[in-house]
Amino acid sequence: MINRRFTRIETALPGPKSAAVFAEKEKYVASPLATYAPFIIKESQGAIVEDLDGNRFVDFSGGWGCLNVGQRHERVVAALHDQVDHFLHTDFTAVPYAPFAELARLLCEHVPGAGPYKATFFNSGAEAVENAVKIARAYTKRNAVLVFENAFHGRTLLTMTMTHKAMPYKAGFGPFASDVYRLPYPYTYRKDVSADDIEQALLALVDPSDVAVMVVEPVIGEGGFLVPPAWFLPAMRKLADKYGFVLALDEVQSGIGRTGKFFAYEHFGIEPDLICVAKSLAAGLPLSGVVGKAEIMDAPVSSGIGGTYVGNPLACRAGIEVIKAIDEEDLLARADHVGEHIKARFNALKDRFEVVGDVRGLGAMVGMELVKDRATKEPAGEITSQIANAALRDGAIFPTAGLRGNVLRVLVSLVITDEQIDEGMDILEGAFEKVLG
Ligand SMILES: Cc1ncc(COP(=O)(O)O)c(C=O)c1O
Repeated sequence: MINRRFTRIETALPGPKSAAVFAEKEKYVASPLATYAPFIIKESQGAIVEDLDGNRFVDFSGGWGCLNVGQRHERVVAALHDQVDHFLHTDFTAVPYAPFAELARLLCEHVPGAGPYKATFFNSGAEAVENAVKIARAYTKRNAVLVFENAFHGRTLLTMTMTHKAMPYKAGFGPFASDVYRLPYPYTYRKDVSADDIEQALLALVDPSDVAVMVVEPVIGEGGFLVPPAWFLPAMRKLADKYGFVLALDEVQSGIGRTGKFFAYEHFGIEPDLICVAKSLAAGLPLSGVVGKAEIMDAPVSSGIGGTYVGNPLACRAGIEVIKAIDEEDLLARADHVGEHIKARFNALKDRFEVVGDVRGLGAMVGMELVKDRATKEPAGEITSQIANAALRDGAIFPTAGLRGNVLRVLVSLVITDEQIDEGMDILEGAFEKVLG
């Protein structure tokens, strides 16, 4: 029996008000926009979501990792109200504004290392990754792009090419961009790969003097919450130095405090050349950025990168408050605490249920991989989705991940309380019991 303080399910899902919106969606919204939750949100605060029919949920998805500081953080809301009263848009390259430069400074100041660093902004994670590639190509005057197995980098032509999951991200969308080469990834639970294996694969695929950039997620998100072994990023840094290409980190999901450090790569003692950020940067407003070594960032021709809406003033104001909130409210330490708490609950599930094959993560980027058999490690994608669905219908939103959809992942707001975590985890445990008997 769940002791409910934060969640409540009062109607069948969807309730009548939500059902009316779903009917409209069905008729007017393009069908590929498949929706996950069987309800329509009315409002949200912190990590709690309420739907149009009064049902309440603990949200472990954090808007797919965009809400590290929580939904409607007080200082973000205040800055947005203030900005609305001044101006909404100019295009920074037409009429510049201060929040763009201030956020660039704050981001550069959060890159550990000697610098100098520079930053610029875009709208989405995919745009940040595309632009990191453009910047690296302009700097190196080379073409080829190295990516990894299990990678997710976005849905534009170049970034879907860089992504390693055909269904649904690439199905029917070819032909793809050229000069993208995929390297083996050390998926420690399933596959042994050494630094030498990676270098030999690189040499077999492409002349290394053609390589402009290697793009890698420091902790793989969509591809299954994979934390690399300690040697991996330092070895990739060495390869970049040896062959003279740029090392760009895709921190779109792992960055902005998620793993207990501002950037996830800080756990691995390396200095990257470029870092892509998005998602939690602006607490839910569309904003992404590339930050990196000034000489590389300055390489493209004047006006070679940009876009009408990039670094929108509202989003920049939100971004400034997000970074200040992380610093002033000690949210990095909070990420560690939240992660430990959730990992302990996940490990308790592993002790109870054979289907849990692996529990892993860094800070509050925690996942569990479900398998049909612990010996064969056959992925249990169907069971994972049944469990996530059962939890969702009982009041807790858990996203899934992985090439085979068999990873339950947590991208919860770092401001979630311990009591809210426990209520959500009790719901998840109930979902395991319901599905597995
Ligand atoms: C690591 C990573 N890179 C890039 C992206 C693409 O970001 P967006 O959906 O904002 O384009 C995502 C989105 O999930 C991501 O997780």
